Amino acid sequence: MQEELENKVLVTGAAGFIGFHLTKQLLDLGFEVIGLDNLNDYYDVNLKLARLKELGIDQAVISYNETLQSAKFSKFQFIKLNLEDREQLPQLFKEHSFKIVCNLAAQAGVRYSLENPEAYIDSNVVGFLNILECCRNYNIEHLVYATSSSVYGQNKKIPFSVKDNVDHPISLYAATKKSNELMAHTYGHLFNFKTTGLRFFTVYGPWGRPDMAMFLFTNAIINAKPIKVFNNGNLERDFTFIDDIIDGILKIVTSKKEQKSNYSLYNIGNSKPVKLLDFINEIESELDIKAEKEMLPMQAGDVERTWADVSDLKRDFGYKPRTSIKEGVRKYIDWYKEYYIQNK
Ligand SMILES: NC(=O)c1ccc[n+]([C@@H]2O[C@H](COP(=O)([O-])OP(=O)(O)OC[C@H]3O[C@@H](n4cnc5c(N)ncnc54)[C@H](O)[C@@H]3O)[C@@H](O)[C@H]2O)c1
Repeated sequence: MQEELENKVLVTGAAGFIGFHLTKQLLDLGFEVIGLDNLNDYYDVNLKLARLKELGIDQAVISYNETLQSAKFSKFQFIKLNLEDREQLPQLFKEHSFKIVCNLAAQAGVRYSLENPEAYIDSNVVGFLNILECCRNYNIEHLVYATSSSVYGQNKKIPFSVKDNVDHPISLYAATKKSNELMAHTYGHLFNFKTTGLRFFTVYGPWGRPDMAMFLFTNAIINAKPIKVFNNGNLERDFTFIDDIIDGILKIVTSKKEQKSNYSLYNIGNSKPVKLLDFINEIESELDIKAEKEMLPMQAGDVERTWADVSDLKRDFGYKPRTSIKEGVRKYIDWYKEYYIQNK
């Protein structure tokens, strides 16, 4: 029974890109997982439903606040819920006695935060506060939560280190993620539970988000449409393959190591930035199609370069990203063809 409890994890954003992969791996390791997601339509809901189908939740319509049992995994249940729901969220915590919470649900995307700032405050600030309150009131031992490389803003020092000052976010998205780090610090200190924030660096791979470059480029090239290349291609991203990200999260979740303080914060990236034009080249050569490039100026809120210093995560948990950009792009495109072309 004790073992069961220790193995019971809440994954929020379970129908999302990273949450889906994390849920699958946790189940494979024998954890009991409750997956939560509000299935919002920021991007194609069918992709979220298809991910859930992979997890054994095969329903075209899912009612709010109804718990569904997976047909594939005896230890997986899914619930459609808003993080902002101040009544039902505590009920869920009360019912399940989680020991570990992985909060990946959020309004993601830098650019959309200029269009719909409210969504970011609702999910990422109000929603995150509700998660913290539940962790406080229901004896959660460890909260692992997603923050973002975007907190570094226009940081000039490279690679980006968690010791660098991040007081100057240049998008509301980044500001909400920085707020999460501050809020987690406060709650861990006041109410004595462990929090680990992970600053993700441009995650890509199978089942990836359709608002991100990997999908946008692949989709446009395959459909003979021009691709939008911002800042005339003078951008660099520390693209990180999904399996390496999940491997890092699992190392943290399964670690029995005593942490020095209740507050931990890590970069989780590949630590090998790739020039945007080289990234496009990889996609072109994998597809064997030349892209038509529309060169455009820098977008508001965007940053020129990201590069993760992951030495802390290596030192503390033996994190070691393994996937080259070539291999990662190939795996993504294999999945893209299967999901978007063969299955349709
Ligand atoms: N993918 C990346 O490159 C990247 C980079 C930096 C940070 N992150 C962060 O990692 C986390 C996961 O990102 P992702 O790429 O899987 O995004 P995603 O959009 O695919 O997944 C997030 C999921 O959360 C759900 N959600 C959003 N708001 C919610 C709410 N209020 N209540 C309940 N569910 C809600 C969405 O429906 C979605 O399925 C997010 O916090 C994101 O900000 C991602």
